[in-house]
Amino acid sequence: MAEHPAYPVGLRLSGRRVVVVGGGTVAQRRLPALIAAGADVLLVSPEATPSVEAMADAGEIAWQRRPYADGDLADAWYALIASSDPAANAAASAEAERGRVWCVRADDADQATAWTPATGHSEGVTVAVLTTEARGRDPRHTAAIRDAVVEGLRDGTLVAPHHRTRTPGVALVGGGPGDPDLITVRGRRLLAEADVVIADRLGPRDLLAELPPHVEVIDAAKIPYGRFMAQEAINNALIEHAKQGKSVVRLKGGDPYVFGRGMEELQALAEAGIACTVVPGISSSISVPGAACIPVTHRGVAHEFTVVSGHVAPDDERSLVDWPALARLTGTLVVLMGVDKIGRIAETLVAHGKSPDTPVALVQEGTTAAQRRVDATLATVAETVRAEDVKPPAVIVIGEVVTVGPAPAP
Ligand SMILES: C[S@@+](CC[C@H](N)C(=O)[O-])C[C@H]1O[C@@H](n2cnc3c(N)ncnc32)[C@H](O)[C@@H]1O
Repeated sequence: MAEHPAYPVGLRLSGRRVVVVGGGTVAQRRLPALIAAGADVLLVSPEATPSVEAMADAGEIAWQRRPYADGDLADAWYALIASSDPAANAAASAEAERGRVWCVRADDADQATAWTPATGHSEGVTVAVLTTEARGRDPRHTAAIRDAVVEGLRDGTLVAPHHRTRTPGVALVGGGPGDPDLITVRGRRLLAEADVVIADRLGPRDLLAELPPHVEVIDAAKIPYGRFMAQEAINNALIEHAKQGKSVVRLKGGDPYVFGRGMEELQALAEAGIACTVVPGISSSISVPGAACIPVTHRGVAHEFTVVSGHVAPDDERSLVDWPALARLTGTLVVLMGVDKIGRIAETLVAHGKSPDTPVALVQEGTTAAQRRVDATLATVAETVRAEDVKPPAVIVIGEVVTVGPAPAP
């Protein structure tokens, strides 16, 4: 049976009966894809792993708790035979052959009439890799080829241009805190496909060096803004490039909607009638503390964390932050853009009841090679920032979570 290569095909299983014999780890691995394909899955097995049982409890599959019996495949279009009972596997396989039901056998690829490819997905495309022959099958190699193709498509090292017309427009991409590995897969793909990238100072700057030479990279901080506000000048640059029919990526640090002015850009683009997609990013407010071994919550220590902007001092009339209320909270306070004003912030928190001994950590340039962490308390933080010359960008964490991890290296 295995002398000829397998014929690859995509089964459209939506609403069609698929019988799975055996509820062990093979079923656990394969069931999610069958469920995602909309198959009407019947599991026949006396036992199942807790994950498979959860799928049955959630109504994603039907489960008959009994051994395989002849006739189980009567209505099946496709069968996955993966029980731990060789006799049951052989009997189910024989029934599949008689009934002309395509059948995968986990225990004996030679006896199977179908093989499951190693699959991965990228951008609406399924990549499926099959070994040519049953003999000499090397599933790890097959999976490695799948990984290489999917990873390459995702990170742009394998370029497969779209031949349908690309919709010009803008993608507001959250680039994460700085480490180039911490951008999302979607963000990285859009970056690889961009004609123009308008980038902030913060975020994964290293990725810009990888872009092909034809991509125009514009530093948002250097856009001339004359009588305009800087933000208006950035909005105009986005609109103008998109109107020229280009694919524009606005690469932002962290998440576009966390002190990132993402909505202002989206609104300006909407007013200009330009399509815009927003790709979330990993915000520095959680990831930078994490990179310095500070969890923003910890069981029994903090049941809340609050992220605030410290770009204006607590007594500044433009401040929208209720600092006295924050001083009463028992959880974690994460302050972005607060290095310059940390002295006034600490004083205000203490004046409204927070202990001067409350631990504080400043994490500068988190997730990059230059990351450093400086520890203090509310009483000492202003002096520590001066003495240690802490500079933005830094995330400031205030609260007991600062001390739950291992002590920072001296
Ligand atoms: C304008 S806000 C943008 C926040 C961003 N949208 C986010 O979700 O992370 C800039 C502030 O974020 C913080 N920040 C961003 N990236 C950082 C990093 N790698 N290390 C430390 N702080 C960072 C700093 O407090 C900085 O002043």
